[in-house]
Amino acid sequence: MRWYNGHFVLLAILNYVIKITMRVCSIIGYKGESLAAPLLVTCLQKMEYRGYDSVGIATIADGKVSVKKGVGRVEDVNSSLLLGRLPGRIGIGHTRWATHGKVTEKNAHPHTSCNGEIAVVHNGIIQNYSELKSGLLMKGHIFKSETDSEVIAHLLEEDYVHTGDLRVAMRNTSKKLAGAFSFIAAFSDGTIAGARYDEPLILGISNDGYYISSDVVGFLNYTDRAIFLDNRDIVILQGSEMEMINFDGAPVLRPTTQVAWEFGGIDKGTYAHFTIKEINEQVETITKSGRGQEKSIKQVSEVLKSAPFVYFTGSGTSYHCALVAKNLLTKYGKRKSDAIMSSEFQYLVNDIEPDSVIVAISQSGETADVLEVVKKAKPLGTKIISIVNVPTSSLARLSDVSVHMNCGAEIGVAATKSFTSQLTLLYAIIDEMSGGLIGLEEQRYKLQNAVRELIEGQSMIEHIVDEIKDVKDIYVLGRSIHYPIALEGALKIKELSYVHAEGIPAGELKHGPLALIDRNSCILVLNPNDSTFEDVNANAHEIKARGASLIGVGNSPSDVYDQFITIPEVDEILYPLLEVIPFQLIAYYLALVKNANPDYPRNLAKSVTVK
Ligand code: F6R
Repeated sequence: MRWYNGHFVLLAILNYVIKITMRVCSIIGYKGESLAAPLLVTCLQKMEYRGYDSVGIATIADGKVSVKKGVGRVEDVNSSLLLGRLPGRIGIGHTRWATHGKVTEKNAHPHTSCNGEIAVVHNGIIQNYSELKSGLLMKGHIFKSETDSEVIAHLLEEDYVHTGDLRVAMRNTSKKLAGAFSFIAAFSDGTIAGARYDEPLILGISNDGYYISSDVVGFLNYTDRAIFLDNRDIVILQGSEMEMINFDGAPVLRPTTQVAWEFGGIDKGTYAHFTIKEINEQVETITKSGRGQEKSIKQVSEVLKSAPFVYFTGSGTSYHCALVAKNLLTKYGKRKSDAIMSSEFQYLVNDIEPDSVIVAISQSGETADVLEVVKKAKPLGTKIISIVNVPTSSLARLSDVSVHMNCGAEIGVAATKSFTSQLTLLYAIIDEMSGGLIGLEEQRYKLQNAVRELIEGQSMIEHIVDEIKDVKDIYVLGRSIHYPIALEGALKIKELSYVHAEGIPAGELKHGPLALIDRNSCILVLNPNDSTFEDVNANAHEIKARGASLIGVGNSPSDVYDQFITIPEVDEILYPLLEVIPFQLIAYYLALVKNANPDYPRNLAKSVTVK
């Protein structure tokens, strides 16, 4: 197949296609008529939201492979090493999120073969790398890094030198790797080849050449025509030809897809960060969540109605949503249920009743812990329902029914608008089950105004942040349905601002945590006007007696609190949707005060595809 004249099947995809590809590292390759290095720098910058610690580029010019790489952000490494000035119209690039080996220049990709004629960038984990490395060391290969990825460059070299055929080298190497991977190799003869297994790889077809990337966003600035490679696919760009084969060498044909251009333009607009943009977007996303999904909501509600037991599962923020869902299902759906975090559930799931239903919640739909639960449960006959923001994600594909959050791309690493969207969907599902007892629809407008009011009250939040900016420990208390919000509030604060924060069920205070409270503590208390009010208020007084500073969140300001954040009036069952917003804002502004980048918290990645 030559450039541009392929079988161009127009599949209208998605608003969300980008999120299929969210992974920890980003890889990109280009071969065409333009200079590769400046393009690769831009492509890597487009994928920065995925999180990374180092960056590198390799280009091919006049039969020579040149590599530059370093630790830090693309912009900084580019200014110091002039990545974008590498010569040639063929190249590969990488942003690394360290898994095997420290964050060092040596461990940054691309990695090269001993003869320096092959450079490789890799995303994923090679589980059998130490075994492969020992074999290669015995054959005399010299390793320059501590990474698992470097074995790919040496394996390719080994096969290429022996067979003289890079197709065979790509196939043999791919077959030897165990684990989840996608990689791109650049050969000194000007060929670029990519292979995938359980990690995404997408070919972009533009008017002046080809891109290969782990994320559509990587090349969307240049083309909206894409081919999504399947597992065991290899793509080879040699001369001006593009060829696709599988690991056994058989030709494969995949449809060309037109992806939505608007994602190429994802930017912060007038906002300083994606995180604050996404917090603000909740005025719309909460209102939209579940709209147009009525059929799947009904379907899920029917499945849950006939389920003897329901397990809600997820990780991090999505697990907090699972906890709220369990509370709602008990109260309004009258079904037995539990919420178990996916990283723990995977050890139990083999022992659940097979006619149970699992509701797996995941923004990305690619979280390894969640997928592990589902993969173990499916063979037992357990029905899987998922709530995802990426309808094409692995989780959605593995589910019997999947409902879409529809909140648009979430670029900030910390989940904000996806949390309130997934939560709204669960309210909608349980409302449907209960014959409308929650009354979500009737309250949408009120809810939207309430979200707007909270977001407009940012100056109050900035004032609170100023007061608490030097505290070392923050505790967030809540009871009943507010306890998951206490956990979520504390998670937001710790991940964005790096201040130690803990969510505590207020009723447990006297059973231990009260020992920590003194004049230096800062306590945020979820104290809305519902059945938890009196008990939480009593807890607030106990804390006050120990001299700690207290910030209340609720609808009835009281003297016990030094500061009070008022939640606008809506039906009390909907409070969790609103209460979380002040915490997102506190976390954001605390990050700014502490000079931390709220969009890219240290050591965290947007989608955790490794266990
Ligand atoms: C916290 C956060 C993480 C994610 C968790 C699950 O702000 O973003 O805790 O919620 O990694 O991710 P998903 O929902 O994609 O499965």
